[in-house]
Amino acid sequence: MRKHIVAGNWKMNCTFNEADDLINGIMEQLEQKELPRDTKLIVCPPFPYLEMTTDYANDSYFMVGAQNVSDQEKGAYTGEVSAEMLESMELDYCIVGHSERRAYYGETNKTVAAKVDQLLKHGLKPIVCVGEVLEEREANRQFEVVKQQVEEGLFHLSAEQMKEVVIAYEPVWAIGTGKTATPEQAQEIHHYIRTLLTEKYGKELAEEISILYGGSCKPSNAKELFANTDVDGGLIGGASLKAEDFIAIALSF
Ligand code: PGA
Repeated sequence: MRKHIVAGNWKMNCTFNEADDLINGIMEQLEQKELPRDTKLIVCPPFPYLEMTTDYANDSYFMVGAQNVSDQEKGAYTGEVSAEMLESMELDYCIVGHSERRAYYGETNKTVAAKVDQLLKHGLKPIVCVGEVLEEREANRQFEVVKQQVEEGLFHLSAEQMKEVVIAYEPVWAIGTGKTATPEQAQEIHHYIRTLLTEKYGKELAEEISILYGGSCKPSNAKELFANTDVDGGLIGGASLKAEDFIAIALSF
């Protein structure tokens, strides 16, 4: 059955020393509190701290992901980081299509699809973010928007490839705003995404894919969100910057 996943997206936060402290804090927490065997913990720091984080991860029970990857294979793309580089650092995961990348860096569903292809080609698992903005929710367009993001970003994949993907539903109006989706709102869209997956790839595969919730998820609301049948964990921003909160969320299943 599908895994529970809690992934920490640090975004553009932490100096080198702060990152070191945060990882040590996570390791200390993990020594004190044992995570259930079916819960996977993923830490996604900024690029410069990936090496340090993977070094620590080798001694502990968490996996490491990047926050972004190039849609190109290699070559003259100044400032970009390729999937091949991430593969050579033995990373496990990479976030793709986060709403901040869509909003501030012009990422489209097409770019998301190309990045997903690069990651899969190099053996990394994409964590693909989808979600509507406030105006779309107010116009009751959330289903249509999420459908288009899922179809255009992912539905070119074969069933074999799709099995490697994690989806994160992140309503944009809930990200960093303190406004969490209600457990009912989260379940409704998660169930909808699983229905789309069932229609395209069949029930067996759809049941295997982890769908995470993201958007102001914290220790005080994680339990009621994760209690829903189709919510398999969380993509955590702000609360992943405090080791104690991050691990408390991971213990909320
Ligand atoms: P937040 O961010 O938990 O700070 O709302 C979630 C995300 O953007 O992944």
